[in-house]
Amino acid sequence: MKTIKQVWDWFEHRLELRDSIWPVMRHPVPAALAKPVGWMYVFGSMTLTLLMLQIVTGVCLAMIYQPTAADAYASLEYLNYEAPFGWLLRAIHYWSATGMVVMLMVHMTQVFLMGAFKYPRELTWIVGVGLLTTTLVLAFTGQVLRYDGDSYWGVSVAVSAAGRVPFAGPSIVHLILGGEYIGSETLSRFFTLHVFILPGLLIGLLVVHLYLVVKRGISEPPTPGQPVDKATYGEEYEKLLEKGIPFFPHALYRDGVACAVAVLIVVGLAVIFGPKGPGEIPDPTLIHAEPRPDWYFLPVFAMAALSPPSMETFLMLGLPVIGILALVAVPFVAGSGERSARRRPVAVLVVLVTFVTLLILGWYGATSPWSPDMEAWSSTPVPAGIVEKLSPLELQGAVVFQNKCCRNCHALEGAGGKRGPDLTEVGIRMNPEAMVRQVVQGGGNMPAYAQQMNSAEVTALVAFLVKLRPAGIPPAAVPSAAAESLVAAPAETP
Ligand code: HEC
Repeated sequence: MKTIKQVWDWFEHRLELRDSIWPVMRHPVPAALAKPVGWMYVFGSMTLTLLMLQIVTGVCLAMIYQPTAADAYASLEYLNYEAPFGWLLRAIHYWSATGMVVMLMVHMTQVFLMGAFKYPRELTWIVGVGLLTTTLVLAFTGQVLRYDGDSYWGVSVAVSAAGRVPFAGPSIVHLILGGEYIGSETLSRFFTLHVFILPGLLIGLLVVHLYLVVKRGISEPPTPGQPVDKATYGEEYEKLLEKGIPFFPHALYRDGVACAVAVLIVVGLAVIFGPKGPGEIPDPTLIHAEPRPDWYFLPVFAMAALSPPSMETFLMLGLPVIGILALVAVPFVAGSGERSARRRPVAVLVVLVTFVTLLILGWYGATSPWSPDMEAWSSTPVPAGIVEKLSPLELQGAVVFQNKCCRNCHALEGAGGKRGPDLTEVGIRMNPEAMVRQVVQGGGNMPAYAQQMNSAEVTALVAFLVKLRPAGIPPAAVPSAAAESLVAAPAETP
């Protein structure tokens, strides 16, 4: 006992925690937090706990994961099936990421409805928006590291969004992919983002967030009819704290209980449902898997799937930016006044509309036919009427068309996938130059086939595509400038 005390004193003499950490632990919080309403204040800590779980499991996973196109998939299989408890690590990492996103949304909703973002806690909220954004980007990059069919399509969609940024688009795409195609360079970039840059950013923002939480004090539970007045709030809050209770142990114990529950639920889900994926081996020509992002991106996915091509750029690029700006604007628009949700019908309505919209979009995202028609390539042949008139080279092209699964997204005479335009008459609206471009470079949610086809195959394929037009109508001979705009926004009619 005596030595323990001596060791303790040795450290205490140097660290002096008693006058730094201890006062923070004992800082007064509103007395009302000792009542059951105190349970509303645990969600932030739950998110934080899950983040720590992410860091611990993530560090372990990073020791085994191989961020290269050749080995990523195998290293995940190794984790799943061979490394002791590797599957559990992956499962916890996945479920705890899910939990983090859920708890973040719950935490934000609570803060919003209880008006805790109002004066003087605006900056805490804004930093929180940064935390939300960073967490979502982390989740996305993590999903890419799974490097299966889904993640491949995820990057394709993200890249096609980035490619639409005015002027800088192509450079951004190059920066994200580390080249022209999705491959090892892409994976090591996402790995660096996921394990160094974003966690660093997240922890940095978190320090500021927590500093502000302690510095500005925990908000008192709102009372209807007691609006925040910037002139008097500080004084009133001071007075409230005079009758306050110390954070530790009165408020902290609830956090402790809630965090333990969060960890138990996450571990329980991980044990019951196991790790997620990896699904199909990534290959743009093998799209048997229905590509779907992880659930929290389903609403975004649904918008990309359902929106008409003319709206896609706006929805993919504009909406996230507008969403973030709207969240940042919240404390400036409603920084004072009533805090109680009972006196803020508009705020309640905003929450309801937001969640209903997300739910509906999520539901569409989970069920909509964005995904290529998986049966098409194996069961639907190129219509006989088309094949009959073809030369040997064009026939060769028809075979390429079939083998490269173009039918999964493109219909011929109405049969086939619906993701891309029906190609029955593509010969009259696109010239060969634009076709080569479209196939080799992809774009607009179509994968780039450059690495999957040699030039002979491309030549044959284009010869076949040119033939896809009604008899007697000459092929399109659009000059290349016009062809470019065609590739960007395919016309429905010639
Ligand atoms: C994952 C789905 C998908 C696959 C697979 C796919 N495409 Fe596409 N394709 C699209 C989409 C989506 C567009 C529309 C692009 C745009 O809006 O810019 C498109 C556009 C095109 C166009 C331009 C059509 C027009 O009318 O403007 C051609 C030609 C084309 N694809 C050929 C092919 C060929 C050939 C293959 C097989 C090697 C193929 N596609 C595979 C999704 C796909």
